[in-house]
Amino acid sequence: MKQKWHASHCFQLQQPEGREKGVTIANQKKLRQQIQSLLKPALVDTLLHHFSTLVGGGPVHYADFGCSVGHNTISFATFVTDILNSKSELSAKDFVCHFADLPSNDFNTLFKQLPGEGGGERERTWFVEGVPGSQYSRMFPHSSLHVAMTTLTLHYLSEIPSLVSDKSLPVYNKGKISAHGSSLGTVEAYVEVSRKGLRKFFECRAEEMVSSGVLGYYCPGRRDRAHPEEQMFDDNVHPQFLFEKSWQELVNEGTIEEEILDSFNMPICHPSIDELQEAIEQPIPEFQIQTLEFTDKFYITPGNADTMFKDAKAYGETMTNMLKMGAGPMVSDHLGHEPMQLMMERFCHNSEKDYPLKKAVGFPMYVSFCSGVLVQK
Ligand SMILES: C[S@@+](CC[C@H](N)C(=O)[O-])C[C@H]1O[C@@H](n2cnc3c(N)ncnc32)[C@H](O)[C@@H]1O
Repeated sequence: MKQKWHASHCFQLQQPEGREKGVTIANQKKLRQQIQSLLKPALVDTLLHHFSTLVGGGPVHYADFGCSVGHNTISFATFVTDILNSKSELSAKDFVCHFADLPSNDFNTLFKQLPGEGGGERERTWFVEGVPGSQYSRMFPHSSLHVAMTTLTLHYLSEIPSLVSDKSLPVYNKGKISAHGSSLGTVEAYVEVSRKGLRKFFECRAEEMVSSGVLGYYCPGRRDRAHPEEQMFDDNVHPQFLFEKSWQELVNEGTIEEEILDSFNMPICHPSIDELQEAIEQPIPEFQIQTLEFTDKFYITPGNADTMFKDAKAYGETMTNMLKMGAGPMVSDHLGHEPMQLMMERFCHNSEKDYPLKKAVGFPMYVSFCSGVLVQK
């Protein structure tokens, strides 16, 4: 069986519906704000002290790659334009914010949240454009962007490594849903696609950005290139572990065919800090690295942990919602509606069972991140 996969539908964060919507969005906002703090100080410093103000006569162009539909994108656009506006030589300029993502991204959902369009009380001081396409290819004209950002996207691969989906090869990713915990050969196939994608990303941005333009990013990452099979440092922290376990249980019980699990692969690979540095600097260093940082086990706390983790049932629901939002469309496309329901029920049940253990250790929610701020040479 071949995984029905196209980049367009699998990566989008699903907006929650109904009763959960308000709570989940508020939590998402809170989580994102915490993670933004990894980048903001270095970004402010670079924009104020290293961004050349010689932007010519036209507007200042800012782009967010992998903008998705949510609050993070708008908050970063507001943050960056506020900083640039504070520079006296730029205060009279027009700012254009380009929101870029895969063509299937629901740009309208994002647009409806813009300040002045129902999202927030502030007036919007910048113009907006939606740009469909893949960040692993050119999306903008040569030397047209002054500031660019990409947050929580560089761990997404441009494609599923073809080798890991080929049953006849030893690197076939049998019984696993991602690179994490797989055999070294399988993981190396993931790393190779990641390496090529990262290189392409920085190559394309180098062409699109003006000299002295500023590029900021962060994504889940690894400390170094050793042990790429350890994509996440602790199985117990990530829902993926329980997800794989739940799927395997349904296979063992004969509810889901083994091959359906074997042929499913998440197109995700967390890059290490040295892999990122290599992609930025080789073959030709086109960016000056201002900061390149690894943050180990960044602790994230959901907005209303008291409610979300108040008992096993609430915890199970919360974890299931998180899983649905992240990987829901990709999994349901592969499994079909009914098995997907069973899968989510089993995951919820296993999360509930896991509750006492998680409670005992204070509901650890850690992610390690790579972040950086670059200046185009
Ligand atoms: C986890 S979301 C991050 C959204 C937002 N940047 C944030 O920080 O909240 C990942 C986003 O990356 C986008 N994405 C994944 N692969 C992409 C690609 N090849 N080109 C452009 N966008 C991509 C997805 O569509 C999705 O909107």
